[in-house]
Amino acid sequence: MKTTLGLGGSLGVLLAMVEVTSALTLPVKGDFNQFVLDAKQVVDTDSLQQYITEKGLSKRAAELYEIAKESEAEYHHPTRVIGSKGHNGTIDYILNSLEEFGRDYYDVSLQAFSAISGSLFSSSLTIDGKNISEASALYMSPPTPDKKPVTAHLAISSNDGCKPSDFGPEVNGSIVLIQRGNCPFGDKSELAGLAGAVAAIIYNNVDGDNIPGTLGTPLGHEVPTMGLSKKLGDHFVEKVKHSSQSLNATIVVDSQIDIVDTFNVIAESKRGDKGNVVMLGAHSDSVAAGPGINDDGSGTISLLEVAQALTNFEVNNAVRFAWWSAEEEGLLGSDHYASNLPESENQKIRLFMDYDMMASPNYAYQIYNANNEDHPSGSGDLKQMYVDFYKSHGLNYTFEPFDGRSDYAGFLVAGIPSGGVATGAEGIKTTEEVALFGGNASIAYDPCYHQLCDDLSNVDYDAWVINTKLIAHSVASYAKSFGSFPVRVKPEYGQVGVASSSVSQSAMQFQYRGPYAIF
Ligand SMILES: *[C@@H]1O[C@H](CO)[C@@H](O)[C@H](O)[C@H]1NC(C)=O
Ligand SMILES: *[C@@H]1O[C@H](CO)[C@@H](O)[C@H](O)[C@H]1NC(C)=O
Ligand SMILES: *[C@@H]1O[C@H](CO)[C@@H](O)[C@H](O)[C@H]1NC(C)=O
Ligand SMILES: *[C@@H]1O[C@H](CO)[C@@H](O)[C@H](O)[C@H]1NC(C)=O
Ligand SMILES: *[C@@H]1O[C@H](CO)[C@@H](O)[C@H](O)[C@H]1NC(C)=O
Ligand SMILES: *[C@@H]1O[C@H](CO)[C@@H](O)[C@H](O)[C@H]1NC(C)=O
Ligand SMILES: [Zn+2]
Repeated sequence: MKTTLGLGGSLGVLLAMVEVTSALTLPVKGDFNQFVLDAKQVVDTDSLQQYITEKGLSKRAAELYEIAKESEAEYHHPTRVIGSKGHNGTIDYILNSLEEFGRDYYDVSLQAFSAISGSLFSSSLTIDGKNISEASALYMSPPTPDKKPVTAHLAISSNDGCKPSDFGPEVNGSIVLIQRGNCPFGDKSELAGLAGAVAAIIYNNVDGDNIPGTLGTPLGHEVPTMGLSKKLGDHFVEKVKHSSQSLNATIVVDSQIDIVDTFNVIAESKRGDKGNVVMLGAHSDSVAAGPGINDDGSGTISLLEVAQALTNFEVNNAVRFAWWSAEEEGLLGSDHYASNLPESENQKIRLFMDYDMMASPNYAYQIYNANNEDHPSGSGDLKQMYVDFYKSHGLNYTFEPFDGRSDYAGFLVAGIPSGGVATGAEGIKTTEEVALFGGNASIAYDPCYHQLCDDLSNVDYDAWVINTKLIAHSVASYAKSFGSFPVRVKPEYGQVGVASSSVSQSAMQFQYRGPYAIF
């Protein structure tokens, strides 16, 4: 049977934990289960890993793809983007699976929150009569009024547009050119709006391709904002500075910003020490463009398979699984969860492990490059555990920047030791990496990243099985014992959950918030 979403009354309430189990009417399994439960052995890594099979993963992948197809009427293709039938169906699927594992093993809850979701349909920029076809609006840019062109004189901000005083009186009524750097794109656009600009153009401060940028969660006064290369940005700044008459620019942005009510799913073992929690997560949503079978259907399914396997065992430490919503909108679900943890709850989480994109077709085994100095103490120990796992299987690995691109970011900011592994997104595989992992050089690790073709054919089962075993290993190891894993440090300076000022500083300098750059 299907559990139904839309449990009212909790939206907008911080940390609204809705007991799902009480809302269900499935028959409870017989009491004889209690006897079996009591006979369980304490989990060990080899026994838990034995439950992980390609067959189990592929069966669930096919089920998830069918769920993504439920969005076809609205989106004309399969997707599991937040707010869609495909995503709501994914949440139902996770709840139903947990229910099948037996009510006696997990406490399941939903955490409701409102996510802000942006859609960008088209944008165009003309300066001095020239169509700048390489320019594109930043994600989460508001539309121009009535999605019609706005024309105004081009002004330039002083410095990097991170302070109100960087915007002089000439900015009022203008389209203002602002250099990238030193503060989030959203702050620049907000300050431009407050100074009376009708639109903004943020140009890069480094050479190369335009990176995908986002304004992030709206602050209230943003203006339609385009991104531009350093080369063209520098060119037009010089032109404005040196020309006797003003230059005009025209911008059109067709976009939409919606508020979507959605849910994180949390399942915690009833057994084990609740003061020493092993936590791990994957994101349940995809982008609008496709069904997201690798990103992050793979992690979503890996966690379900490990959660199912774990029910055969006793645990010494409690294990908490999370399926985050709205990762693709900028890590909204995991941020909401981590930033709303009361300090006493925060302290109970010994570590958080992020599992996003486990099965890229042209994979590399990537370990997030955490350490115990720049990140909460224990993050480096977790990284070492992943290194040891790959080594023990005779596999190669690489280290990836720990730069805020997935759901660990909110946990780092909250002072919780974190880490994880991935198999690669839009990055291009090098010939050196082909020597390490096989596959093809000069193409992306996941050529279907954030596209319609992230479907059932877009997963590599060798990588997926290995990484799901790695997840089982991480769960089994810490559920059995934290051994010498560093104990949590009480926060200094009275800041909730932030272990030290250096940690909060480095965490705030993330270049990304999910898939999009914010700086
Ligand atoms: C998905 O669930 C949310 C929250 O209950 C609801 O607001 C939304 O309308 C649902 N979407 C669809 C397409 O039914
Ligand atoms: C500018 O060029 C792009 C691509 O060539 C085109 O899609 C867009 O419509 C053009 N915009 C204007 C205002 O001509
Ligand atoms: C911009 O100029 C208009 C009048 O032209 C004025 O009403 C408005 O207050 C100015 N805005 C700012 C932010 O200075
Ligand atoms: C710039 O735009 C303004 C307002 O649309 C218009 O009056 C003016 O003639 C334009 N100037 C140039 C040089 O195109
Ligand atoms: C590598 O390229 C070959 C030949 O184009 C192709 O058949 C194969 O699927 C590719 N493998 C990966 C992992 O991309
Ligand atoms: C690991 O990388 C080395 C090259 O440095 C390569 O010879 C070896 O085959 C790789 N191992 C695997 C399992 O691919
Ligand atoms: Zn992802």
